[in-house]
Amino acid sequence: MAPGRKVLLAAAVAALAALIGVAFWRINELSLAYRELPVKHLNCQYLKNIDYGAEDVTILKDGLAFLSTGLHFPGMPSFSDDPGKMYVLDLLHPKPTPVELQIKGDLDLGSFNPHGISVYQDEADDSVYLFVVNHPQHNSQVEIFRYAEEDTLVHLKTVTHPLLYSVNDIVAVGVEHFYATNDSPFQYYLLQLLVVLLGLPLTDVVYYSPQEARVAAGGILGANGINVSPDKRYIYVSDILDHAVDVFERQDGEQLVFVKSVAVGSLCDNIEVDHRTGDVWLGCHPNGSKLSKYDPKDPPGSEVIQIKDILSERPVVSLEYADDGRQLMASTVAAPYEGKLIIGTVFHKALYCSLR
Ligand SMILES: *[C@@H]1O[C@H](CO)[C@@H](O)[C@H](O)[C@H]1NC(C)=O
Repeated sequence: MAPGRKVLLAAAVAALAALIGVAFWRINELSLAYRELPVKHLNCQYLKNIDYGAEDVTILKDGLAFLSTGLHFPGMPSFSDDPGKMYVLDLLHPKPTPVELQIKGDLDLGSFNPHGISVYQDEADDSVYLFVVNHPQHNSQVEIFRYAEEDTLVHLKTVTHPLLYSVNDIVAVGVEHFYATNDSPFQYYLLQLLVVLLGLPLTDVVYYSPQEARVAAGGILGANGINVSPDKRYIYVSDILDHAVDVFERQDGEQLVFVKSVAVGSLCDNIEVDHRTGDVWLGCHPNGSKLSKYDPKDPPGSEVIQIKDILSERPVVSLEYADDGRQLMASTVAAPYEGKLIIGTVFHKALYCSLR
């Protein structure tokens, strides 16, 4: 080899090594791998019948909680080969026990893979509509159900749209109207990784109604959980990779205008809003590297963060629950209700806790 070529080769090797170094540093930074997590426990019990995750949980004003369970998600462990299921539980009952919802209608239950969920209550007749992000065969679509008393969901329709290509979570704002987050611009893992390493904010929020579907907000690094303020004027989006919750104002024509970003210092997943106080509750992943590696001997932990007065000049961010994974692995959601809290996970159990 000519000396000139040797120098070039050495330079190329050095550049590659530097790139790999930067990539590692960036992954550690994004996944918060250096952050120590204190343990902070609450008075909790495991919810019966929930053994394969409850990725999302949402609670109606009258105390009925809905849970999506058994998610199969690329890159995440899942310990059941069964399709996913929906559960309901009544928090007004002295010993709330999740009951599997029977799904009626035209939906393939064998490939049901429920992810983010949202409920919409029609003021006119009190009907309850349940919106569920579904990933049959790794696709993304939204199922709309009507909750028919006791333990039945009636499937009304499936929504598919080219803009809804990698849906993570959803918030319903009408009987057939919703905002949804896309959590990744690409299906392929290597492309996803590249986008993340380069810090390209390519994920978005889509507004959908039977009349139209369009991007309502873009430029987000890792759009994940989404929810709405009690007065329905603001939309909250968790940017899981930016370790922040973004606040958007709903404008005429359902465009979202960015208001601000509140730092949370963790990889927060789903967002629930206390219907009384408007406080924001987040189920978060304290160490993203542990979650993606998944070693049962060194399990991924769980973390619940609350934001009080999110719309004020000085939002108060506080840690409400933290565990190293020995009690609860990979929390994704924390749903409050009158002094109680349900904490759900990607693939583990769910906790029912007292906040008093
Ligand atoms: C986060 O997870 C990685 C991968 O398992 C591990 O090397 C690192 O020590 C963890 N960080 C903390 C603070 O526990």
